[in-house]
Amino acid sequence: MKKEWLAAFGQMTYGIYVLTSGHEDVINGMIASWVSQVSYDPPLIMAAVHPNRYSRGLIEKSKAFGLHILDRSQKEMLSRFKGPDPQKKFQGLSWEPGKTGVPILKHCLAWFELRVKEHLEPGNHALLLGEVIGSGCPASGTPLTTLDYEGMYTGKN
Ligand SMILES: Cc1cc2nc3c(=O)[nH]c(=O)nc-3n(C[C@H](O)[C@H](O)[C@H](O)COP(=O)(O)O)c2cc1C
Repeated sequence: MKKEWLAAFGQMTYGIYVLTSGHEDVINGMIASWVSQVSYDPPLIMAAVHPNRYSRGLIEKSKAFGLHILDRSQKEMLSRFKGPDPQKKFQGLSWEPGKTGVPILKHCLAWFELRVKEHLEPGNHALLLGEVIGSGCPASGTPLTTLDYEGMYTGKN
C-alpha cells in the first residue's frame, strides 16, 4: 500500500538531538529527532525510540536518558553517533556523568537529564516520557534542526 502520508511527514521540522544513555560501565549516544517538550509542570520531554536501538536497552535498565541540543556547526555529530562502537562515539569529546550516570556532553547549546516516568508503546517506537532532573545551557548559537539535514528520518526501522 502506498503511504501517501510519508511525503507530508517529510515536511515536518524537528530539532536534531544527541540522546545519551548509560548503565553500569556502558554508555551510548544516538541521534534522535522525534523529541518534544510535553509539559511545563512538571517539566516533561518525550522521545520516540525504536526497539532496534542499542540505546533502548540501556534506557530501560537505567530508566534515564540525556538529551543535547547541538549547534548548527556540530553537524559532524550525525556521523559520529552512527555505528556500532559506543566507545568510539565519545572519543575526543568532553563529557561527565550526570546524577543517573548518563553522559552529559560539555559542548552543546543545552542539555537535559531525564528520568523516565512513563514508557508507552503506541506504535513501532516507544514513547519515553522523561522528567527533567537536570539541565544546562553551556553555549549560545543556532540549534541544529532537520532544516540543516538533507535526508529524512522515516522511523521505518
Ligand atoms: C536525523 C536523524 C534522526 C533520527 N531520529 C531518531 C529517533 O527519533 N528515534 C530513533 O529511534 N532513531 C532515530 N534515528 C536513528 C538512530 O540515530 C540510529 O539508528 C542510531 O544508529 C541508533 O544508535 P544505537 O543503536 O547505538 O542506539 C535518527 C537518525 C537520524 C540520522
